[in-house]
Amino acid sequence: MVLYRELHRPQFHFSPRENWTNDPNGLVYQNGVWHLFFQHNPEATVWGNMTWGHAVSDDLMHWRQLEHALYPDEHGTMFSGSAVVDHENTAGFGKGVLLAFYTAAGEYAKPKRPYTQCLAYSVDNGRRWTKYAGNPIIPWIEAANRDPKVVWRSGTRQWIMALYLAGDRYCLLNSSDARTWTRFQELRLEGVSECPDFFPLTDESGTERWVFWGAKGVYLVGSFDGRQFSPETAALICERGRNGYAAQTWSDAPDGRCIQISWMAGGQYPEMPFNQQMSIPVELTLAGSGNEVTLVRWPVRELDALRQRTIRLERQSITAGSPLVAATDAKLLDVSFTVSRQDANALYVMVRGQPLVFDWSSKELRFTNSPSHKVMPDRLHVMLPDDPGLSVRLLIDTTSVEVFINQGLISASFCFLPNGYVDPLVLQSYDGEQTVDNFDLHEMASIWT
Ligand code: FRU
Repeated sequence: MVLYRELHRPQFHFSPRENWTNDPNGLVYQNGVWHLFFQHNPEATVWGNMTWGHAVSDDLMHWRQLEHALYPDEHGTMFSGSAVVDHENTAGFGKGVLLAFYTAAGEYAKPKRPYTQCLAYSVDNGRRWTKYAGNPIIPWIEAANRDPKVVWRSGTRQWIMALYLAGDRYCLLNSSDARTWTRFQELRLEGVSECPDFFPLTDESGTERWVFWGAKGVYLVGSFDGRQFSPETAALICERGRNGYAAQTWSDAPDGRCIQISWMAGGQYPEMPFNQQMSIPVELTLAGSGNEVTLVRWPVRELDALRQRTIRLERQSITAGSPLVAATDAKLLDVSFTVSRQDANALYVMVRGQPLVFDWSSKELRFTNSPSHKVMPDRLHVMLPDDPGLSVRLLIDTTSVEVFINQGLISASFCFLPNGYVDPLVLQSYDGEQTVDNFDLHEMASIWT
């Protein structure tokens, strides 16, 4: 089998050349290059031997995998973390040096040690990494504390780190030299654990807000003065569906963009040389202001460059006897349409034979054939808004479908394994009538050319 052309290889989503991946790590942009480090087992297609794999891209779509960046050492295996550009040489390794913050999972060290937070740096744009001689930079706090995410706050000229502690508890720490850290606040995200993110975004009134994020896509929006994060919303949920997990945003993304990628946790890739994949990178923005504020998640515009042939359809009524069958045999699709439900019970979008159900009666979106990640059995059902009409965008790759509703106000990620099917995309009703409009289907190019 030709590498990157295997049967179940995602064609416009990142997956490692071979072996296992889970969380995206160390996302940082520097000198025109997007770095994507990732939790990786260099030896097998199952979780273990955690190492930081490394890939780079100049357009967030086409990835080139490089040498692994961080290997296990006497402190433990290399669990998740983040990376930043040290523009002001705060750490003393030089101006513009890349700093990576990661967890050494001491449980897997020989002999065993507690989980600690460590630092590595790269003076050659991320090609080679040196672990800081004074590691760990943060001694064990409790349990399997982990997943440091670091952001620069220019106002107080400090680094801020979000760290997962235990249960559903996280904390914030600060530092002016990236090496010595002081813990100043504890936070909870009910029912959520692991992989925090903490980043600023401007809301629609022009006010800077801070988003505190946990691995399940649950977040709080609040204010942050450098000393205290004050949540101003209840816990909200951004990424739904069964398979989005452990998302992280890029440090230093140009033009003030906030770009995020998730692990699509839990798909199946039988007999493939690799296991697991990343989501499509999305741009995050804040809709609304004050307490009425919501994260919006939308595929980055760089994806549009992969569009090949386009099929546009006029307004079409869909009834039991007359489905909309897209005239394509392509497997890689970027599809948009609007639908008004009228008296239909549900819209069945058959994605390569797998039913994605917009159930108008229960107001749920379901994709029943999606294999779950162990921590998210509860996210099979996604609530739909009350509106009589919806706008829908679907990104369909060989083993995944990402759904964006009403311009990204609701989004959900699902993995699937196609079985027998004839047409790659069919929209149908079993009962009643509904109208589909503005149907636009783009066949997509592979990124592995
Ligand atoms: C989340 C996670 C992290 C940890 C990493 C280990 O998926 O469990 O908390 O750092 O994966 O691979």
